[in-house]
Amino acid sequence: SLYRSDAGAEPRVRTARRTSISRSKTRHCELASSMSNKPNLPNGFDLRQGTLMCEDIAMPELANRFSTPLYVYSQSAIVTAFNEWRAAFEGARHLVCYAVKANSNIAVLKLLASLGSGFDIVSGGELGRVLAAGGDPQKVVFSGVGKSMAEIDFALKTGIRCFNVESASELALIEKIAGQLGKVAPISIRINPDVDAKTHPYISTGLKANKFGVSADAAIDLYRVTQDSSSLRPVGIDCHIGSQLTEIEPFIESVSHLRNLVLTLGSQGIDLTHIDIGGDLGIRYDDESIPSPKHLISAVRDQLGDLSMELLIEPGRSIVGNAGALLTEVMVIKAGETKHFAVVDAAMNDLLRPALYSAWQNIVEVEKREGNPTIFDIVGPVCETGDFLGKDRSLTLVEGDLLAIMGSGAYSFAMSSNYNTRPRPAEILVSGGIAHVIREREQVEDLWASERL
Ligand code: LLP
Repeated sequence: SLYRSDAGAEPRVRTARRTSISRSKTRHCELASSMSNKPNLPNGFDLRQGTLMCEDIAMPELANRFSTPLYVYSQSAIVTAFNEWRAAFEGARHLVCYAVKANSNIAVLKLLASLGSGFDIVSGGELGRVLAAGGDPQKVVFSGVGKSMAEIDFALKTGIRCFNVESASELALIEKIAGQLGKVAPISIRINPDVDAKTHPYISTGLKANKFGVSADAAIDLYRVTQDSSSLRPVGIDCHIGSQLTEIEPFIESVSHLRNLVLTLGSQGIDLTHIDIGGDLGIRYDDESIPSPKHLISAVRDQLGDLSMELLIEPGRSIVGNAGALLTEVMVIKAGETKHFAVVDAAMNDLLRPALYSAWQNIVEVEKREGNPTIFDIVGPVCETGDFLGKDRSLTLVEGDLLAIMGSGAYSFAMSSNYNTRPRPAEILVSGGIAHVIREREQVEDLWASERL
C-alpha cells in the first residue's frame, strides 16, 4: 500500500575494495561478470532451506507480520559484537562507550546498558535517549564540535563522565555554565593528530583540514586553563580519526601522539586518568578484511607501554552495523533501454548511505528463486536519480519478491528522513524466535501532525 513504501535492495557480489564506501563513483559501473551469488551473511543471519532467517525467524514471516520496508536487528549479533570489544581489553581497565549516533533506538541502548556499556553522545537528545534507556550517566562521554548552552547545562546537571572538548570557546562556555551551577566539569580535550585514516573523505575526522579537535600545542594551553579553573577538572584525553577504518596503523599513529602529549602534560603536573582512542574498526560490508578488536587493542596497549590509564573506545558501527538488515519488497520490475530496474518499497530516505557516500551494501534475495539472474539497479520510489540502494546487482527477481539490504544496523534508521512524505518503517529486534517491535511504523498523518494551516 501507499504507506508501506520505503527502501531498496540488492545482494551480493563485488570486486575487492578497501572500504565499503567507494572512493569513486566509477565502482558502480563495475561489470556484472565480476559478480557472484555468495550471500556472505553476517552473524545473526543465515539461510535455511533457501530462506533468509534472522536468528530463528524467517524474514518472509516478519514481512507478513509487520509489512515492508522493515528494519530487522539481531539481538545476539549486537551482544556478540559488544562482547568482542569487552574481551579485547583482556583485563585492562576500560570502558566501551557505544556511539549512540549509529543506532539510537532506546531498546538497543537498553540492551547495551544491560551489558555494562558506556555511551558516546553528540547531542542533548542522545543524552536524553541514554537516560530513557536506563544508561548510567557516569559512563557517558559527550563529543561534538558545537555543544549548545542548553546541552552543556543538561549534561552538567545529569553528571556525565566527561566532555570531549573541541575548542577554546567551548571550554570557556562549559566553565561559565559549570560556575553558574556550582559544578566542576570533567574535561577531556580532543586532539586532532593530523593522521590520515584512509577512509571516505566525508567520515575522515583526524586531519588538520577537518573541523574536529585541536592541535597538541593548543591542547596544552586548554589543559592549563582547566588546571587553573575551579569549575573545570582535567580527566582525560581523546581523539577520533574517522569511521569505517580497515587498518590498524592510523590508530597507532594517533595513539602515539596521545601518549607523547600525556607524558608532556604529566611533566607539567597535569595528570589524566583516561585515554579515549575514539572509535572504531570498520565492518565487512563486502569482502573487506578488517582487523579484530583484539588485534587493535593489543597493538594500542603495546604502543602505550607503561602508561597505566583507563582505556576508552567509542565504537558504533562495529557493534550494530552488521546486526541489521533492511527488508524490502520489489514493487516493479522495469526494463529500460540500457538497464533493468527493480523498484523496491524502500528508498534513499530509509537508507541514505548509497546516495550520500556511494556506499555499497550487500543485497540478498530473501527466498532463492530458480532461473537465470539479471543485472538490476535496485532503486526506490523517490523522485531523484540518486535514489538507488544498489547498482548492477545480479539477481533473479519477480515483482513481490523480498530483498534484504545487509549491513543496515548502523547509520540507516539513524539517518532516515521523511523525504517525499514517506513514513519511516518499523524497527524489529529479533531474539531467538521472538520479534520485538522496538519502533512502530510511522503513520502518514503523523508526518504533518505538528504543522499548522
Ligand atoms: N566517536 C566519534 C567522535 C564519532 O564522530 C563517531 C562517528 C564515532 C565515535 C562512531 O564511529 P563508528 O564506530 O560508527 O565508526 N554516517 C556515516 C558514518 C559517520 C560516522 C561519524 N562519526 C556512514 O554511514 O558511514
